Amino acid sequence: MEMADLIRIKRDGGRLGDEQIRWFVERFTADEIPDEQAAAMLMAIYLRGMQSGELNVWTQAMIDSGDTLDLSGVGRPTVDKHSTGGVGDKVSLILVPLVAACGAAVPQLSGRGLGHTGGTLDKLEAIPGWSPDLSPDAMVTQLRDVGGIIVGATADIAPADRRMYALRDVTATVDSIPLIASSIMSKKIAEGTDALVLDVKFGSGAFLREIDRAREAAATMVRIGNAHGVRTSALLTNMDTVLGRAAGNAVEVRESIDVLEGGGPADLVELTLALAREMVSLAGLDSDPADALASGRAREVFDEIIAAQGGDLSKGLPEAAHRITVEAAESGYITRLDARSVGIAAWRLGAGRSRKQDPVSPVAGVICLRKPGERVSAGEPVLELRTHDPDRFAAAEAVLVDAVAIGPEPSTPHPLVADIIR
Ligand code: URA
Repeated sequence: MEMADLIRIKRDGGRLGDEQIRWFVERFTADEIPDEQAAAMLMAIYLRGMQSGELNVWTQAMIDSGDTLDLSGVGRPTVDKHSTGGVGDKVSLILVPLVAACGAAVPQLSGRGLGHTGGTLDKLEAIPGWSPDLSPDAMVTQLRDVGGIIVGATADIAPADRRMYALRDVTATVDSIPLIASSIMSKKIAEGTDALVLDVKFGSGAFLREIDRAREAAATMVRIGNAHGVRTSALLTNMDTVLGRAAGNAVEVRESIDVLEGGGPADLVELTLALAREMVSLAGLDSDPADALASGRAREVFDEIIAAQGGDLSKGLPEAAHRITVEAAESGYITRLDARSVGIAAWRLGAGRSRKQDPVSPVAGVICLRKPGERVSAGEPVLELRTHDPDRFAAAEAVLVDAVAIGPEPSTPHPLVADIIR
């Protein structure tokens, strides 16, 4: 097979054959295809797209590039959630114990934050002693006994994706729906879950800002999941503003515990319960997640998961040494609080990283003291910025200059869950 022939087929808008796809992905993973040819193929896919059957074979080849977890010994229905990432998105921290408390097993393989969106592992590492590393045997045992794990994805799950993502990043081909969908779904299918709920975000803080693109990505991923025997559905959710009030690491753990204790911000509770209901339904269970939250059972499972992975909440969460506030310029209602700007501010305060190898600060972050729809008087604080390093305040404040809009009337709120795609 000649790589130039495969590139030509895609360049001219044709469909790659099943054997051709498997040949390319196998050799690409083994580093046997020069980057210039692989990059040309990715650009041809970016420009020409992929047919649905072609994309299924492509996704399967990416799954086959590495290991697949065997969760058959877990003894409970398995169901997971994947979010395309947003600012203040700490839903996994609440959802994993909540759905486990409803009787399912949630094998959450998570990542770290990059850029303005945070990562679940970075957040949980703010808890003293907590570790994202579990052996495959320990994962199955914890899923069976406790019902949930939150661990780092290993290098052996869909290694083709790791290499391909690095090349997409430097060739302006990240933003392609078939490439995004196969990247996400290959990792999720390889993790061995029976069912999957996707939280596909749109809006200023989202990876795909326009709702139509988010909808197309969601429908594509739902199709791939179901074609691979994983019962899959997607919620299309608004990410114009921060989810909840906290964006950072320890501050998001604190807010998640508030929800597990029956409090917390209403939007965070609403989205978590909507995702939990969909997961419980796909798992074939008839428990009501609202009951598991209200009874305190989800909080107990959270403690069990944290303790099983070495975390010690009795030591408390770390606190920032330095805090400042951003005040309202006028009186009125908050009509906009831009998610992306708050995410970038939290990142500049130290909560996020620019390069994969950078450390993150557990204490840095932004607290939204006021959110869209709430009243504020001139001079009252709207945002609180926290950091370990006061030299970071100026850069964080600079990105927030136009982040808050105040008007005389509250604006009509957008529904948080715009649609469900099954
Ligand atoms: N997240 C992924 O895992 N892959 C993509 O391509 C985009 C977002």
